Amino acid sequence: MDIDPDVVRKRLDSGETKTEIAKDYGVSRHAIRRLVNRKKKGAVKESELTKKVHKALQKSGELDVEALADKFNVPPKKIRDAVEQLAHDGYRVEVDDVSAVTLHKVPPSRNNLHKSLLEGEEHVIGIVSDTHLSSNEEALEELHLAYDIFAERGITEVLHAGDWTCGSGIFRGQVSEIKNHTFEQQVDYLVANYPKRDGIVTRGISGNHDIEGDFGRVGANPVVALANQRDDIDFLGDYSAWINYGSDNAPCWMHLLHGKGGMSYSYSYKAQKLADGYRSERKPAVLAVGHWHVRGAFEARGVQVLFPACFEWQSPFLTRLGLSPAVGFHILTITIGDDGTLVKMIPEYFRFVEGRTV
Ligand SMILES: [Fe+2]
Ligand SMILES: [Fe+2]
Repeated sequence: MDIDPDVVRKRLDSGETKTEIAKDYGVSRHAIRRLVNRKKKGAVKESELTKKVHKALQKSGELDVEALADKFNVPPKKIRDAVEQLAHDGYRVEVDDVSAVTLHKVPPSRNNLHKSLLEGEEHVIGIVSDTHLSSNEEALEELHLAYDIFAERGITEVLHAGDWTCGSGIFRGQVSEIKNHTFEQQVDYLVANYPKRDGIVTRGISGNHDIEGDFGRVGANPVVALANQRDDIDFLGDYSAWINYGSDNAPCWMHLLHGKGGMSYSYSYKAQKLADGYRSERKPAVLAVGHWHVRGAFEARGVQVLFPACFEWQSPFLTRLGLSPAVGFHILTITIGDDGTLVKMIPEYFRFVEGRTV
């Protein structure tokens, strides 16, 4: 009696047992099992085809799909399936546009990787932050030394990550920690004392000390006032600015930011949290973020997060917060590929130690 394996399979799928089906056909349960297994042999045959294709490729390295189909008397689709199976099993096979199947016996040459990948246009930028001029603890001489070094190195652009001046009414008791108390005095002090060097433009954002507290209450911005009186100062915005170091078509963004709130126990955690805040399609290459008066460089989600240190020695306020400032600055060298990718970065850190003089 001819038993259709497909019918048997359907009956098994619908929940009948092999014994029940066997009884119907008047055959043994084993006969049903064999029949079902025979059906499975189709799959085995396919894997045999895969083996044959593999063997043929081992011999010739490259063969045409049509030629393989003719050789094994199967449709080209089966050959493509077999090649796919081989790739799935971990063999280095590929089918090109003209249907040639190739088996690579050695790893493919890495000619798509070349040292030019790490080459590009270099930018050298000075980075300073939290200069807090007019604070009793301002590190103004150190800031001037930083600009001497920028000038020596031929740097034309310095970025400032906010808190140019110490402000007023930012925290309780600040009045005893600063030497200039009004908006006008602090602006005049900035105009007269913030370093100026031929050929160097300082571009930056305002921070909480610049635009909150007493100045904020009257809507005054000392950084804008400074920029209006000095042509080497360029105001980029409150708290945040995005600067493109790539081209219009292939941008490479630096996000200059003044942070908010306290620093986390671990600086790297703060760096991660800041990087987490960007949507994946709008991540900067570099985030230079001031406010915490600490120094660190971390990569998080592909963003180079730089905490740029500051120019204010430990004030009584910081001591109360249990914070010890890092006083110093960076010369950041970044290399940007044609496609706007940041391919190299040197965060060169210059640090000062209180009381250390020559
Ligand atoms: Fe600050
Ligand atoms: Fe700040």
